[in-house]
Amino acid sequence: MRILVVGSGGREHALCWAIAASPLCETLYCAPGNAGIEEVAQCVAIGQEDLPALVDFARRERIDFVVVGPEGPLVAGLADQLTAAGIKVFGPSAAAARLEGSKGFTKDLCRKYAIPTAAYERFTDIAAATAYIQRQGNAWKDQPIVVKADGLAAGKGVIIAPSAEEAIAATRDMLSGNSFGAAGSSVVIEEFMQGEEASFFALVDGVHALPLVAAQDHKRVGDGDTGPNTGGMGAYSPAPCMTPALAERVMDEIIRPTVRAMTAEGAPFRGVLFAGLMLTASGPKLIEYNCRFGDPECQVLMMRLKSDLLPALIATADGALDHFDLRWHAETALTVVMAAEGYPEAPKKGSEIRGLEAAGAVEGVTVFHAGTRRDNGRILANGGRVLNVTAMAPTVEEARRRAYAAVDQIDWLGGFCRRDIAWRALAAGP
Ligand code: AMP
Ligand code: GLY
Repeated sequence: MRILVVGSGGREHALCWAIAASPLCETLYCAPGNAGIEEVAQCVAIGQEDLPALVDFARRERIDFVVVGPEGPLVAGLADQLTAAGIKVFGPSAAAARLEGSKGFTKDLCRKYAIPTAAYERFTDIAAATAYIQRQGNAWKDQPIVVKADGLAAGKGVIIAPSAEEAIAATRDMLSGNSFGAAGSSVVIEEFMQGEEASFFALVDGVHALPLVAAQDHKRVGDGDTGPNTGGMGAYSPAPCMTPALAERVMDEIIRPTVRAMTAEGAPFRGVLFAGLMLTASGPKLIEYNCRFGDPECQVLMMRLKSDLLPALIATADGALDHFDLRWHAETALTVVMAAEGYPEAPKKGSEIRGLEAAGAVEGVTVFHAGTRRDNGRILANGGRVLNVTAMAPTVEEARRRAYAAVDQIDWLGGFCRRDIAWRALAAGP
């Protein structure tokens, strides 16, 4: 098969790495890719948001199957355009990608179909929002109030406001378009949920849902889960909190009802459904949906996947996931994100990275590139999150030791990472 992967991050490197290993894959392209992806795929200089150019390329190069990594092009309709051109694609239609593209859409779906999530209301008007915050501020006393921009905001559209005043100020900023542009012209205001977070993934073919293994990531930039939120500073799988019984409950109460709901709403979901979950005292609740693999969760999932990824992605697109089975390594996979100084606010680009070969030579380690480019044989940082140093081992301790042994081989003055990835899994014990 001739395959095209769309995207340029660590997630896409991991997807390309897994797809390139498939006996079904004859030629692999990635648009636009990065310096690491170049080692397993042919990179083509087409931006992931340039839908017409992507469709043209897929047609011209007789691509059999397109795998879309990020949410942006999915929400913009890339899967619909490829399907219209007769090209098979992994990733939901724009209508189904609303599960990520509009937080209000998802909250309303949860309400209509009794899917457990935080209590909420939607607003486009500051006066009505203010009245709700003041009323709920009393009902949810001593709890922060959560304010969310409805649309895509690169993972930054969520404000956890410690007081009603701060929630009102955040809402005003969003509605005025100052903080998130058009993505903030509608907001969701919701109840704060307490508990441990987990990332849950299922392949969905429109009708059937096949659960993958769960993972946990670290959203905050600093050790001890401090500092601003990021796209994710590290991840590991399995997640000890996600027991088989809990996973079954998530499938029954959250994933399958959503799959049925999307079909009932005339927008069947095909692709990977990524549920951000809060494991509360009263059971698992949905924080948000994403319509794509998590980044960096995908990197640890791909390390643990024993089966060939490509047939699973094709079965998802073909509506053939019933009776489909995937095998996983029992070991722990763990990834440490190395980011450029200044991330997440203002990452500095262009610093040189050395020692990647030595890092990749550590037992059980694969280094995925998240934001790099090649310049005269040198590898340069080219984004916020730059490398995902990923290790697999029989125990969490050993996976962590290997990952940091590899990190320590990397000679990069302009980069940093957290030193405590998987602290929760270690605290949970063997
Ligand atoms: P999201 O972009 O929706 O995943 O939100 C980013 C982060 O904000 C989540 O990973 C949670 O840590 C936090 N968060 C979002 N909604 C809530 C909520 N209702 N209660 C508590 N924390 C939340
Ligand atoms: N790591 C969380 C995400 O991909 O949104």
